[in-house]
Amino acid sequence: MIEELNRLRETAIRAIQDAADIDALEEARVRYLGRKGLLKELTGKLPELPNDAKPAAGRLLNQVKNALTEALAERKTALTAKTADEIRRPGPRLDVTLPGTRPRIGSRHPITQVYDELVEAFARLGFETAYGPEIEDEYHNFDALNIPTDHPSRDAFDTLYIDDEHLLRSHTSPVQIRVMEQREPPVRVIAPGKVFRPDTVDASHYPMFFQLEGLYVDEDVSFADLKAVLTMGMQEVLGADTRTRFRPSFFPFTEPSAEVDVSCPFCRGSGCSVCGQSGWIEMLGCGMVDPEVFRHVGYDTERYTGFAFGIGIDRMAMTRLGINDIRLFYENDVRFLNQF
Ligand code: PHE
Repeated sequence: MIEELNRLRETAIRAIQDAADIDALEEARVRYLGRKGLLKELTGKLPELPNDAKPAAGRLLNQVKNALTEALAERKTALTAKTADEIRRPGPRLDVTLPGTRPRIGSRHPITQVYDELVEAFARLGFETAYGPEIEDEYHNFDALNIPTDHPSRDAFDTLYIDDEHLLRSHTSPVQIRVMEQREPPVRVIAPGKVFRPDTVDASHYPMFFQLEGLYVDEDVSFADLKAVLTMGMQEVLGADTRTRFRPSFFPFTEPSAEVDVSCPFCRGSGCSVCGQSGWIEMLGCGMVDPEVFRHVGYDTERYTGFAFGIGIDRMAMTRLGINDIRLFYENDVRFLNQF
């Protein structure tokens, strides 16, 4: 027993001192001092010794245990100190003279750019900017605009309702009503903003997009004024050689109504892939304000006439910047946005 203990002490201490890292040290600890370790095994044999040999063996056992524990602690300190020393080792870690990382500067979104250009162009033509709520009531979005109850645009399939009377506005035209409720003619405003329709997403449809509404009411406002203002507005944003084409159309709140095409800024009207070879791109709806709308806001229909228009800002931005997919505007891909 005594001999065995001495041998154990020798090999164990060597193993502990030779442990190359914390893991190896832990392995040695388990092997010699662990609950099922070699020292425990010898302790278990103590009762088998003759009585007169027990005290000496017991003492030695304790000595060996203490020696190993001490050796373990010592080696552990040495190993951790080494690691700490490695971390502290001086070296070329931080060069304060290197130039910094340049922060990425954002830019205005392409929609915002064209939105701002439109607002500025119409401001130069004497239009001030008005805003309305994106959550509208049925009266302003439909009834006051002479849109009858059975009109398809009032259907839940074509409109995003919040509750029985409120909806995400399907166009910016309700701002016409809100402005006319507030003031008397002359009125000359534009109303840019978001509109919402439950459209299926594809290259030319998105459930949210931007419109710019225009309204001009005064004595003697004519269709000629409408044509002049819109043509000038389009030329301001798309280029001085832009031509416009007015096609008869229908809106419940204008009479007569027209849809306006602009000559394609890419091929200048000769036909290309942007304009589908037609030379023209549809850009907006417009018309002379229907007297029925004036009646809703209490304007004198004998004294005043006016025109209104609604431009699709997304369509305008696509035409202006040569983009063929509306989804690119709303995906927030910096590789796309960086280009503008
Ligand atoms: N509000 C119409 C639409 O969203 C556009 C429009 C506005 C037409 C003003 C005529 C006058 O389609």
